[in-house]
Amino acid sequence: QPKDQLQSDLLSLYADSAKMYQHILVNTELGEPALAYLHERGLDDETIATFGIGYAPKNQLLLDFFKAHKTDYQLLRQSGLFIENQAGELRDRFVDRVLFPIKDASGRVIAFSGRILTKSPDEPKYLNSPETKLFNKRSVLFNFDLARGAIRQRKQVILFEGFMDVIAAYRAGIQNGVASMGTSLTNEQIYMLERVTDQLYICYDSDMPGQKATDRALKLLGSQSRLKLGVVQMPDGMDPDEYLRAAGKEKFVQVFDNGKQTPTAFEMRYLRRDLNLQNTQDQLTYLEAVLKQLAQLSSPVEQDLYLNQLVQEFGLDKADLRQQLRSVVGSQT
Ligand code: UTP
Ligand code: MN
Ligand code: MN
Ligand code: MN
Ligand code: MN
Repeated sequence: QPKDQLQSDLLSLYADSAKMYQHILVNTELGEPALAYLHERGLDDETIATFGIGYAPKNQLLLDFFKAHKTDYQLLRQSGLFIENQAGELRDRFVDRVLFPIKDASGRVIAFSGRILTKSPDEPKYLNSPETKLFNKRSVLFNFDLARGAIRQRKQVILFEGFMDVIAAYRAGIQNGVASMGTSLTNEQIYMLERVTDQLYICYDSDMPGQKATDRALKLLGSQSRLKLGVVQMPDGMDPDEYLRAAGKEKFVQVFDNGKQTPTAFEMRYLRRDLNLQNTQDQLTYLEAVLKQLAQLSSPVEQDLYLNQLVQEFGLDKADLRQQLRSVVGSQT
């Protein structure tokens, strides 16, 4: 079966490439700046080994290596590890980047994502392998292979925004984290997670793009899955990796232990983002939006909890709120 042959050839090509890149990072002079960069970001050698992190140096290297081994040219072309010019010549795709191997659910390398060492206006911060026979980014979750055991054990998964956040959490002992591949969550990824757990926490960056993405993911998950949902957010607009570095492991873990919010609590904060609640018009806008949200809850106890909060905050009459909530529910069915 030629197709299976291609797949296994690609897999061994990626495995060799990952080994090569890691060797460069850990054992050679070429890798020193990248290793210093990773140490600077708090990654120790054990973490680097666990995730198989590597470095693609400034000078093309992979192509020469595989040429020397007489690797089939067509295989190289189809691997996504090289860029082809109009004359059909190949060159390394990943140059001067820290490389994170992307693995399938069985832990086999199927792609790479490369992070630039220093900010550049003309180049993306992360560069991913293109889609190949083996790599379909919609159906890959970073770290799913390593996290699966912990997800089952803890009966929950934490969904992060970036690789570095997954790795930060892992270092702090939170090993049931995964991330999607720099895109919004897909149905394929939801399906993968549903098979191993029934509880998902979203822990995206707490900056505004991260909150927007959280809102979107909650809506998608609410309509496409039966997962129980929650949200964890780092303080002060930080991402998990930044917060771990700033506050230390103990405080970081505390956010997960004590900071889990319901989707509704998240939405109630998110809905106020552009409103000035000193202003009566904005108050009304907010209350209507919140009641719409509450109308979707199936638990009367949970509804009651949030109604009490509104009574408190806005000095409202609970019976009036209830009546309005009923009319929202009525108009939605
Ligand atoms: P972020 O900008 O939050 O990056 O994008 P990060 O994870 O905090 O990265 P560091 O800490 O600066 O290294 C979140 C995710 O979006 C994808 C990556 O998967 C990243 O982890 N992304 C971001 C890209 O694919 N390309 C980019 O240029 C930027
Ligand atoms: Mn060092
Ligand atoms: Mn972000
Ligand atoms: Mn981030
Ligand atoms: Mn970050």
